[in-house]
Amino acid sequence: MYFQHPLLLTPGPTPVPLHIQTEMNLPMVGHRSSDFEAIAKEAFEALKHVFGSHQDVMILSSSGTSALEASMVNLLEPDDHFVVIVSGAFGNRFKQIAETYYTNVHIFDVPWGEAFDTKQVITFIEQLNAPIKAVFTQYCETSTAVLHPVAELGVALKTLDNEIYFVVDGVSCVGAVDVNMERDHIDILVSGSQKAMALPAGISFVACNQRALEQINASTTPKFYLDLAKHYKSLLESSTPYTPNISAFRGVIAYRRYIDAIGFDNVIQHHYQIRDAVRAALKALNFELLVNDTYASPTVTAFIPKDEAELQKIKKELKTQFNITIAGGQGKLKGRILRVGHMGDVSPFTLLSFIAALEILLTQHRNTSFIGQGTKVFTEVLKDVI
Ligand SMILES: Cc1ncc(COP(=O)(O)O)c(C=O)c1O
Repeated sequence: MYFQHPLLLTPGPTPVPLHIQTEMNLPMVGHRSSDFEAIAKEAFEALKHVFGSHQDVMILSSSGTSALEASMVNLLEPDDHFVVIVSGAFGNRFKQIAETYYTNVHIFDVPWGEAFDTKQVITFIEQLNAPIKAVFTQYCETSTAVLHPVAELGVALKTLDNEIYFVVDGVSCVGAVDVNMERDHIDILVSGSQKAMALPAGISFVACNQRALEQINASTTPKFYLDLAKHYKSLLESSTPYTPNISAFRGVIAYRRYIDAIGFDNVIQHHYQIRDAVRAALKALNFELLVNDTYASPTVTAFIPKDEAELQKIKKELKTQFNITIAGGQGKLKGRILRVGHMGDVSPFTLLSFIAALEILLTQHRNTSFIGQGTKVFTEVLKDVI
């Protein structure tokens, strides 16, 4: 038996739907032409709703990490004190960027697999006794599959000190969560294309509120390509400072049309329903889940095989026998967990195939039958929400 159609179930990149691919295949236009001006204007406006932003969203023709770096070097001065919350590999990424440019970096460590505790973050800041200018965190820490209580922290930071900037890395969840920058007191929200927005990898997004934009215009940390003041000035002229990924801009417009057709609330709900079905099925297959239900991300789930041999078998055989790609762990979770992405253009039946394949592999590996155990629970969760 062979499985011709590959299933890409990594927590990014995610499959790009045909309607987006088709739009991206339209002929190239000059990036200094009125053709591109029209595309850029529509694309910058297109993501406001998904980011819960009052301002148009900047698009960088570079991957998510560039948006992380831009959010830091455009906000902070060389001597500023600031806090970075590290709860996994992408918190570490923020930390590495911070330590490349700055010395007054205060790290708030969270055990991997857990969400930050808002009260503890606030106490940490209070005890630092330093003029904290900003706090940086992931929204979904993709390496652990935790969704942090970002809105709660936004409110708490505002109450603590209304001047602190709150910067959120939403690379692996914007497009699948209800975020509103004003309500949640987020000053800069960044994201990437290859995750919940189902676009190809390689572009990223930066949404800023008015006070962050003012700070960006005043910032003195050295930067060139990632100078957001230049990007925002160009955005106001429906342009970009350098040659953009024109096809991906067209993709953004197609994504927005899809959101409008389905309704963004429905898209968010869809992600949570699939998450619940996947988690229930994995539990029924006797897997431990890394993250408790309260902070489980709607975009990715981390599960723990019985031992490393089982982990290796599942990852390898899913690929070789079933043409299904999932992800392993990163950093200190390498060899301990597997991660399945369920975001973007993902159908419940796609995940059902993954659960069915797991049942077969577990039946082979554990010498007891798991056939029907995960898929039954999966469809039972779905039938209650369809
Ligand atoms: C939460 C998070 N932040 C940042 C990044 C980095 O994005 P990129 O690999 O597009 O540079 C990723 C990528 O997986 C991510 O999941």
